[in-house]
Amino acid sequence: MRRARTLILLLLVPAAGCRGMQHALDPVSGEAAFISNLSWLLYCGATLIFVTVMALAAYAIFGPRGRNPLAHRNLIIGGGIVFPAVTLTALMIYAFVGAPNLLLRGEPELHIEVTGEQFWWRMRYLDAAGKAQFETANEIVIPAGTTVAFHLRTADVIHSFWVPNLHGKLDMIPGHPKTMHVHAERTGQYRGQCAEYCGTQHAKMAFVVEVVAADAFEQWRRAQGNEARAPDTPLLQRGREVFLTSGCATCHTVRGTSTGGALGPDLTHVGSRRTIGAGLLPNGIGALGGWIADSQALKPGNRMPAFNSLPAADLQAVAAYMASLE
Ligand code: CUA
Repeated sequence: MRRARTLILLLLVPAAGCRGMQHALDPVSGEAAFISNLSWLLYCGATLIFVTVMALAAYAIFGPRGRNPLAHRNLIIGGGIVFPAVTLTALMIYAFVGAPNLLLRGEPELHIEVTGEQFWWRMRYLDAAGKAQFETANEIVIPAGTTVAFHLRTADVIHSFWVPNLHGKLDMIPGHPKTMHVHAERTGQYRGQCAEYCGTQHAKMAFVVEVVAADAFEQWRRAQGNEARAPDTPLLQRGREVFLTSGCATCHTVRGTSTGGALGPDLTHVGSRRTIGAGLLPNGIGALGGWIADSQALKPGNRMPAFNSLPAADLQAVAAYMASLE
């Protein structure tokens, strides 16, 4: 009895992990719900079949000797031909009937272009004409109850866009733009991860999708569309000066300044992001300073060179300036 109870508890352990911010079995959209239901059907069906086959095997091995009822012709035809044919056909019909859940239903109201880069995510929010309104990195904010189109591209190698709570994964293949539609129902933060090996820092290529209420989204979108905050203290003014004169602007843009670099992330509102380095570190002056001084020590192989030749005071000032760009 005690053993049975322990066994049941052990079996329930995986089920306890069925909720979370990066979880295919905790769907927050119709698309992910279909995938989750299909997964459950397959898990339960496969378990049932496995247990039955093991029981039959045990009977064949340990059962009474003599004429074995399992060798009966009907059992072999039924279990070996009819059962798999019926089960697989039923599964195929279920998948065909449910598959439209993964396709576009209604015209998308929001278009976001997501580009996979080694090793971070470039997000461009597009207007009705397909022109970028603003650009951000490694964080996506979308309104709940709205159909969103993610236009997936890559700047270099194959990456894969995957937010398990929202949808299945879709590869970003050079020269083959693709579109994924998501209609998120539940607000919250959901973690995405590159799901195709793309180089040394593939595992550290994460992002966050935040699903918010419609009015909160409008507020966020307006704020992101604004130019960067002007520095209002001597420290921040010096920080901006360092940013403009030390080579940062070759790769980065801060809208509202003379910068226009496009190789690295747009930093206009970098201070408002939760993490830096594509989910690597929680954002803050310390993390920003450490990243600028030697990002190669934190994320070896990323494209940003170390700026450890900067004097400490300049480093401090530029980190403070970055953090102030909310
Ligand atoms: Cu990008 Cu793996």
